[in-house]
Amino acid sequence: MSAPNIETIVSLSKRRGFVYPASEIYGGLGSSWDYGPLGVELANNIKNSFWRSVVYERDDIEGLDSAIIQNRLTWKYSGHEETFSDPMVDCRACKSRYREDKLLEEFGASTDHIGEGHTFASEGGGNSLKEARIKCPNCGEIDWTEPRPFNLMFRTTVGAVSADDDPAALAYLRPETAQGIFTNFANVLNTSRRKLPFGIAQIGKAFRNEVTPGNFIFRTREFEQMEIEYFVKPDEAPRAHQEWIDGFDRWLQSLGISKANLKHYEQTKEELAHYSERTVDILYRFFPERENEAKQWDELMGIANRTDFDLRVHSKKPEDADGKRINPDSTEDLSYFDTATNERFYPYIIEPSVGVNRTLLAVMMDAYEERINDKGETRVILKLTPEMAPIKVAVLPLAKNKPEIVEMAKRLKKDLQPTMRAVYDDTGGIGKLYARQDEIGTPFCVTIDHESLTDNAVTVRDRDTWEQERISVEELKNYLQMRLRA
Ligand code: GAP
Repeated sequence: MSAPNIETIVSLSKRRGFVYPASEIYGGLGSSWDYGPLGVELANNIKNSFWRSVVYERDDIEGLDSAIIQNRLTWKYSGHEETFSDPMVDCRACKSRYREDKLLEEFGASTDHIGEGHTFASEGGGNSLKEARIKCPNCGEIDWTEPRPFNLMFRTTVGAVSADDDPAALAYLRPETAQGIFTNFANVLNTSRRKLPFGIAQIGKAFRNEVTPGNFIFRTREFEQMEIEYFVKPDEAPRAHQEWIDGFDRWLQSLGISKANLKHYEQTKEELAHYSERTVDILYRFFPERENEAKQWDELMGIANRTDFDLRVHSKKPEDADGKRINPDSTEDLSYFDTATNERFYPYIIEPSVGVNRTLLAVMMDAYEERINDKGETRVILKLTPEMAPIKVAVLPLAKNKPEIVEMAKRLKKDLQPTMRAVYDDTGGIGKLYARQDEIGTPFCVTIDHESLTDNAVTVRDRDTWEQERISVEELKNYLQMRLRA
């Protein structure tokens, strides 16, 4: 079982402290969300798992943390300034604003693609909304403006400038972490003394002024990406691409996401970004409540073969057909010299790119389960893997008015804490405390009762089976560590 819809997770998140609407006391800000005490732990667990599995457990990936605000030229030569836009339409009757491609996807028949449509999307041609007789979702009229491109990059100014629109001070918040990796290719290559194939991984915030954000943390204007740029010889790119697709399929399942809720989508030639030779999206069943099965899926991540586009456009040497340098501003040539073959070339890049926020949503949706207890009450259990669980163990005193029991429980919590995230809780009856821990995905509860004071043993309760086992205090840490690893 998984969550019946995103709304269930929105409500659980708010109720238990995973995710809150940002600046809620001032009415919120549409698509901004804050990660609460449990949300920040879950997001960190996802990021740590990504980093461990690619940077530590492989021998061919280096880490990087590049700046959010880069020289504007980065975005000129990457193509973002010119083309990173969504086709925007307005309803003339009620002035509501929409993304044309998303309206067509939702109400029209013209596109089957259900992934991120906007990356370097081309301008909409003609008024296809009118032709498809698509009504404004707000007022029901069919009176659309022609679609026009809306650049998604957030603009800012750098330094103390007198005018907000001073072009010399204009800068952008990065819309992807990838470009900071490309511009550092030579730095990392030279300082780490790497040879192809190798990759650079980065985790960080990205910003896009989305026309229609929504579906909770699925599409927001501020989000976090985990990206790898993997540099290979051109003829090795297709095989490496497939290996990364298969590898990320396995990684997503290792987070507890079931195979039945994941599928691949091969982008068509028309959908491919201009830099891509092949892109495969991994989709998750974010909308299980939709009747039409095809519309239940949306993009969790993308894995692209970006060819040698990126290193070429940021290099000073390449020329166009007329012999003109394509990048007269760059001071570096980002080509690679292969000492084995004495050849110089621009490496191809395989790019797996996955959102932290969408992964968190998928992990929570997939872990969600409801169960009826002996009293006929519905209980929520978040069956997170031990690695994902924000809290690994909760230590609960059976009687909070008995100082010896409270003291023993607090001591046990302290003993466990250096090796696993443990909490102490005495704010309710034991049934309520168990239910609360089930709902936030804590794999084990440890209860200290009157007998514990004499037999030096505690009760360990399993979240998934609700079975209880008596374990001696000396064995407790090893026992929990073993069960958490299993
Ligand atoms: N460097 C390639 C790139 O940025 P993308 O498909 O635009 O590709 C990669 O983004 C991933 O980032 C997506 O698959 C998604 O998980 C996440 N993402 C993109 N836009 C997002 C948004 N507005 N809100 C939340 N996550 C987003």
